[in-house]
Amino acid sequence: MQSTRPTIDILVATTSGNTEYLADQLNDQLTEQGFTTRMHYEPDYTELVNAVTTDTYWLACIASHGAGEYGDSMLAFADDLHAKKPPLDPLHYAVIAVGDSCYDTYCEAGRDFDRTLKDLGAKRLTERLEIDMSRDDPEKKSSTWLGSFTQLL
Ligand SMILES: Cc1cc2nc3c(=O)[nH]c(=O)nc-3n(C[C@H](O)[C@H](O)[C@H](O)COP(=O)(O)O)c2cc1C
Repeated sequence: MQSTRPTIDILVATTSGNTEYLADQLNDQLTEQGFTTRMHYEPDYTELVNAVTTDTYWLACIASHGAGEYGDSMLAFADDLHAKKPPLDPLHYAVIAVGDSCYDTYCEAGRDFDRTLKDLGAKRLTERLEIDMSRDDPEKKSSTWLGSFTQLL
């Protein structure tokens, strides 16, 4: 039987690997549930933006570094997005922001990505999940959130 479930592009912004690990866990859960996924450990701006259609679903897992900067693997992507401001009306997306509440710029990169996509016309599927690495259980919190996220697809 042909699956009608959408393919999910998982975008990862990481510097030290925590968010990559988390994204891999989510990928495992999604594939177990029958979703097709594509992992983007160093998201390519041109490839991803040019491929956007009404069937495009991005799940962005974004770590904050520096003073609210994006994790290294998505710095170039974020720079292009801010500079080029592509219209993204057909896109559906959700954001998991990873950070640490000991920083004033808590989860700022994930918040920025969420705000930027919304401003570019993309459709937010659900409220952003914020994971505080100094207080939360990342796997438990993201797994619970993923359950409600997949209901929306
Ligand atoms: C040098 C440094 C700067 C950081 N800056 C921020 C920040 O501005 N805001 C925030 O919420 N977390 C910040 N963090 C916490 C990271 O987001 C957290 O350690 C996260 O797990 C890193 O994810 P990654 O391993 O995927 O890169 C910082 C961590 C480091 C080591």
